[in-house]
Amino acid sequence: MPAVRHLNPFRFSGPLPPDEMIDRDPEADDLLALAEGGHSFRLVGARRYGKTTLLRRVLEAAEHQGTATVLVDLQDVLSIAEIVVRIERAYERLKGPVRRRVEELFRAWNIGLSLGGGGFTATLQRNPNVDAESVLLRLLELPAALFEREGTTSLIVFDEIQDVLAVQGADGKIRSVIQHQTEAATYAFAGSAPGVMQQLFADPKRPLLDQAVPRQLVPLPIADVAVYVARRFRQTGRDAGAALTPMLEFTRGHPQRSMMLAHYLWERTPPTSGADEGTWISALDQAAGDTAQLMRAIWRALTTNERRVARAMAVVATPLHSEETAQAVGIKRSSIGKALESLMANADVILEDGRPRLTDPVFELWLYKRGLTPLAGDDYVEET
Ligand SMILES: Nc1ncnc2c1ncn2[C@@H]1O[C@H](COP(=O)(O)OP(=O)(O)OP(=O)(O)O)[C@@H](O)[C@H]1O
Ligand SMILES: [Mg+2]
Repeated sequence: MPAVRHLNPFRFSGPLPPDEMIDRDPEADDLLALAEGGHSFRLVGARRYGKTTLLRRVLEAAEHQGTATVLVDLQDVLSIAEIVVRIERAYERLKGPVRRRVEELFRAWNIGLSLGGGGFTATLQRNPNVDAESVLLRLLELPAALFEREGTTSLIVFDEIQDVLAVQGADGKIRSVIQHQTEAATYAFAGSAPGVMQQLFADPKRPLLDQAVPRQLVPLPIADVAVYVARRFRQTGRDAGAALTPMLEFTRGHPQRSMMLAHYLWERTPPTSGADEGTWISALDQAAGDTAQLMRAIWRALTTNERRVARAMAVVATPLHSEETAQAVGIKRSSIGKALESLMANADVILEDGRPRLTDPVFELWLYKRGLTPLAGDDYVEET
């Protein structure tokens, strides 16, 4: 009998379907309860922490209860017209009677919106001077129109909401419409930079939705990761063996990194004998090699003082705020706090048991391996 060939069961890019995720049951229940109670919320979680995966699961559950659910991806939007297109696309995923209702409304409004076909993109191509602002305002009224007609309520997720800040006046326009929809719609906002989310929601000059309940996404429980990884190895005829523990210790519940390292480990595990610590080391080496470019890009995106503090956290054993640490990485002791704050505002650093820690274990390893030697082009000079 020919051996069964299995595909690697660990996916590490893009949101996962609900039945593939490590459950996050408490989080999903909590968010669903908020949505059912008509409470809008904002979800902050570091990059690749599984925000979209979790929100999709919440939307799926809400959909079963007859809610119209919409997930708007605002990543990298640069104009009002683009925001219109993203929202229109999100409605394209609707099914059944709600979808037909939306189609009818779009037709009746006659402002260049449609589901399927070219949609607003085609309208823009035909007429680049179309007034995208008024189309946006109208489109944002859609949940109210659905509610008026037959009492359908909506749950609308704005994912990567921080990116609307790149479009002048966009957050204000969104707010001006949605704040009146208390009955018709509940809104969820997700983003990865706590600092920007704070600015969007708590800054009195631009409160997007004052009442949006704040929620923070934390790492996955290690025990859940362990069960999931071991089971998926087993189901595909492999054994994670002695490699499992070091993998869990390294990834610290970081969702995407856990899946990525499990993927590499699975790849290197012989179907017959199972993985051991050597398999783990070689999997980690390969992951480090494959992500080196990306790590360099992350490093380059940091300010000089952020680099110094990140490096201190990965390499130096003395207390973070000490003079020894400051000297080792060439920063003024008094500058450490501010750099740490800005690393935390971007979720590059999170608190682990109350202590700051680099969020991404792969980045931590990359820094650790480089030690304190300056690299050409890093502008790594003593702060004076
Ligand atoms: N609950 C989960 N169980 C297992 N893996 C997960 C889970 N959540 C996230 N992941 C892993 O993380 C990856 C990224 O997930 P997702 O895209 O949902 O995160 P995100 O926080 O929305 O990321 P981004 O910051 O890029 O928007 C997934 O491909 C998967 O490998
Ligand atoms: Mg996402």
